[in-house]
Amino acid sequence: MRKQRVAIIGGSSGIGLRVAERAIDLGADVVIGGRDAEKLQRAASKLGPASRVLTVDNVDQDSLRRFFEQAGPINHLFTPGASYSRGRIDKASDEVAESSFRSKFWGQYYAVKHALPYLDKNGSITLMAGAYSVRPAAEGAAYGACNAAIEGLGRALAVELAPIRVNVISPGTIDSDLWRRQPDAIREASFSSYGEAALLKRVGTTDEVAHTVIYLMENGFMNGSTLYPDGGFALR
Ligand SMILES: NC(=O)c1ccc[n+]([C@@H]2O[C@H](COP(=O)([O-])OP(=O)(O)OC[C@H]3O[C@@H](n4cnc5c(N)ncnc54)[C@H](OP(=O)(O)O)[C@@H]3O)[C@@H](O)[C@H]2O)c1
Repeated sequence: MRKQRVAIIGGSSGIGLRVAERAIDLGADVVIGGRDAEKLQRAASKLGPASRVLTVDNVDQDSLRRFFEQAGPINHLFTPGASYSRGRIDKASDEVAESSFRSKFWGQYYAVKHALPYLDKNGSITLMAGAYSVRPAAEGAAYGACNAAIEGLGRALAVELAPIRVNVISPGTIDSDLWRRQPDAIREASFSSYGEAALLKRVGTTDEVAHTVIYLMENGFMNGSTLYPDGGFALR
């Protein structure tokens, strides 16, 4: 990763921030994006001089275009940033049902599209899905389908964009800022039911996911794959 340039949309907290920290530790320069400028500044003071921050909202193509114009040439792209909610088909509004496709699917698709003019031909793209792709939750059929679609998108983009490598990461429940923002009771109940469902009897850490993302960036023969850091959740 030495002297490589890494762009992370959704790098101001959680998994994206941990990937930024690991990439910088390995000698990379990092550009992180997110919607909230103050949150980005807090992340930048943690990351230090090897980081730059740019505001971006991935549901807005003009915003994505500006992000990559300002970021300039990059070697690796990681796109965990997404804003969505989920609910059962018989309860959720159309707005909620479509939100994951809008931000998590199309947000990543258009991020890749606008990154391409700046992405090194020997570089890599890592898309973010989630293990509900293969073991869906009871609430959120559209969200489960969205994660499966992202895994399919990764394989299809690997074919279209070679020699640029495209892979997907599809984690189980991870103890990230996303969960820290939830009320204690909801977080604890979710972590406990995930602990019962996963073979390793616990949720994962942002460090375990970041390790996998860095591996996908660094290994020049990984292409068109989906990796599941999920403690064996998908197998039960
Ligand atoms: N944590 C888990 O258990 C888990 C499991 C499986 C998959 N995932 C997936 O991993 C991704 C990241 O999760 P996380 O736990 O790291 O969440 P997080 O801590 O909430 O971080 C999300 C990051 O994305 C940014 N972001 C959110 N909406 C955005 C948008 N519309 N445009 C650009 N940036 C946006 C956030 O900053 P702003 O809010 O300032 O924009 C933040 O930097 C999500 O897509 C999630 O579905 C998470």
